[in-house]
Amino acid sequence: MYDFADRVSAVKPAAPFVISNLVTELEEAGEDIVDFSVGQPDFETPENIVEATKAAIDAGHTGYTPSNGISALRRSICEHKLRARDGLDYEPENIVVTPGGKHALYETVQALVEPGDEVVLIDPVWSSYEPFVKLAGGEAVHVDLAPYDLKLEPGLDDLEAAVTDDTALIMVNSPNNPSGMVFSDAAFEGVRDIAVDNDVLVIADEIYNEFIYSGERQTSLASLDGMWERTITINGFSKSHCMTGFRLGYLAAPEEIVDQVGKVHSHSVSCAGNFIQHAGIEALEGTDTDAFTGEMVETYRRRRDLLVELFEERGFDMPVPEGAFYAMIPIETDDDMAWCKRAAREAKVGLVPGSAFNTPGYARASLVEPRERTREGVERLADAGFI
Ligand SMILES: Cc1ncc(COP(=O)(O)O)c(C=O)c1O
Repeated sequence: MYDFADRVSAVKPAAPFVISNLVTELEEAGEDIVDFSVGQPDFETPENIVEATKAAIDAGHTGYTPSNGISALRRSICEHKLRARDGLDYEPENIVVTPGGKHALYETVQALVEPGDEVVLIDPVWSSYEPFVKLAGGEAVHVDLAPYDLKLEPGLDDLEAAVTDDTALIMVNSPNNPSGMVFSDAAFEGVRDIAVDNDVLVIADEIYNEFIYSGERQTSLASLDGMWERTITINGFSKSHCMTGFRLGYLAAPEEIVDQVGKVHSHSVSCAGNFIQHAGIEALEGTDTDAFTGEMVETYRRRRDLLVELFEERGFDMPVPEGAFYAMIPIETDDDMAWCKRAAREAKVGLVPGSAFNTPGYARASLVEPRERTREGVERLADAGFI
């Protein structure tokens, strides 16, 4: 009866939501679930940001804004985040403020990819990347890092081999969701060489770049020689300032790219929320970001250490996450979605199947449960015979 567009029919619902919906259903039925399935920090939005949001509404910042975002926020993003924290040289004209980093990715892919184009994705890959490509009519080409303990550097030859004359884009996400890996400078230099030699554009999704356990900053891809003009940098406020429900993110790119992406942006969302953008200025200028993210990172690092220890004690050799707040735990099954559903129902533990990230053989655990609950979650999996 309904004749849907092929490019939409080709996309499946996001697998993390399949599991988190099941977890919610079980919790509503009175079950206690150790829930490692959600992809958002378990910290509260800082009070100053909440207050600034209310004040912005009271001050009447409730109408449309310029499509690419209010200039005070675009300036703040350039000064207080990209230049000060990431060593990136962008001006307000290079910024499009979006309702979440996800929409920044979506509209960038819409602007750059068309039928016949290939987009190179690096597995494990965040579950929305391939749908972005398919919704633009393009074709995803996957590079698998599973043989390399989920690290990019040893997979650079495979990345190079995946690039063809039809490649429109390479998408790089570090620190990585779901693996928690932080790609090395050498890996980034390899990406640069491949991108420059083959004249392709790169999306650098740096949304987790405040979450690195070593305490070091990650080199931003666009700061490497030859990369500024071919990189679209994606970032946002969801993770760094625990503002997932505000829906605030941005892209930074050369003006020519901004002009094209800005058309997709203005014809789809018009602009990000007005008072939300004011909250973004407060996040950047009124928050002690080092102290706030420092506390989160330390908490996630301690949970990471515990999780790795618990799995190693049980004889598993798991890739050790270096950032973000995720870990890939090795599992043995032919059907990881069924395995994760059973783990939720029988062991009362929420995990996302690795196949959602094109990496079967693993399940993703978000490090969002306190240490004692984390321990309990692993024990429940062991007691119920899942590990
Ligand atoms: C890799 C990655 N990029 C981008 C996003 C977008 O986040 P948001 O739209 O909340 O800014 C997420 C969210 O989970 C993510 O994991």
